[in-house]
Amino acid sequence: MDIIEAMRQRRSTRAYDGRPLSTEHHDALAAFIASTSPPFGVSARIELIQADLGNERVRLGSYGSVRGARDFMGLIRRDGPLAQEGSAYWFEQVVLYCTSLGLGTVWLAGFTRSSFSHHVSLAPGESLNIACPVGYPGGRKPLPERLHLMSSDKLHDTKKAFAELFLRPDFSGLTPDAAGDLALPLQLTRLAPSAINLQPYRIVVTPEACHFHIVPTQHAHTDLGIALCHFEQACVHQGVAGGYSVLSDIPSPPKTEYVISFLRAA
Ligand SMILES: Cc1cc2nc3c(=O)[nH]c(=O)nc-3n(C[C@H](O)[C@H](O)[C@H](O)COP(=O)(O)O)c2cc1C
Repeated sequence: MDIIEAMRQRRSTRAYDGRPLSTEHHDALAAFIASTSPPFGVSARIELIQADLGNERVRLGSYGSVRGARDFMGLIRRDGPLAQEGSAYWFEQVVLYCTSLGLGTVWLAGFTRSSFSHHVSLAPGESLNIACPVGYPGGRKPLPERLHLMSSDKLHDTKKAFAELFLRPDFSGLTPDAAGDLALPLQLTRLAPSAINLQPYRIVVTPEACHFHIVPTQHAHTDLGIALCHFEQACVHQGVAGGYSVLSDIPSPPKTEYVISFLRAA
């Protein structure tokens, strides 16, 4: 499965069958993490954590909880310019690699930090920001889903409309037809995970550049980093050349803040 197919197939998995990762999967994941790094000069690391949390009554997510997971990835970063965006971009690349191996994942920002404190040691200036179970989908659904308090399927299927997320220079909605060779990268950006499925970013598309703005929310910079990953990786696949740059004096749509632009190569 290539990264494009992985973006299409990935969905948040909150029920796992209780098996630890096979040695083959564990080693492949460790090798992928070791061979990649965050963009934008950001300092971050990803730890593979084996933690049988089955009998501990830990609530892993701030909303939907997780059942049956034995292996986790922890995203640890140092503060700095674009630290949230760059670390999230890299973590999403790893998540998509997991999807390509047939493994389930779910980004968790609302987990109990103390559940992992025995497993991760933080150096001064580091923080553990995201935990993510990784394993084999299956088993019983977590309690909130069985009680119909939340639904992974419903969250996954209720993404914002294309024309709400992607805008013309006058901030009116863009259609996939008008997006030309950016239609696929934008469609795959729309499928990216985001905290509470808020998708708190808007992309203004011009002939020369795509300008990324956040709608300020608690995890907006992280959610944007994931979107930057989907967008750029899909551009590579689509043969759209270019790269990210932070510009000045870019007008923002109402209630948003400018962060970064993708400049198309001339
Ligand atoms: C930064 C971030 C934090 C998240 N935190 C949680 C969480 O604490 N608990 C949870 O159940 N899901 C969490 N999620 C998963 C989202 O709910 C999920 O991505 C979204 O509902 C869209 O569903 P999908 O990933 O299946 O497309 C988080 C996702 C992101 C990107």
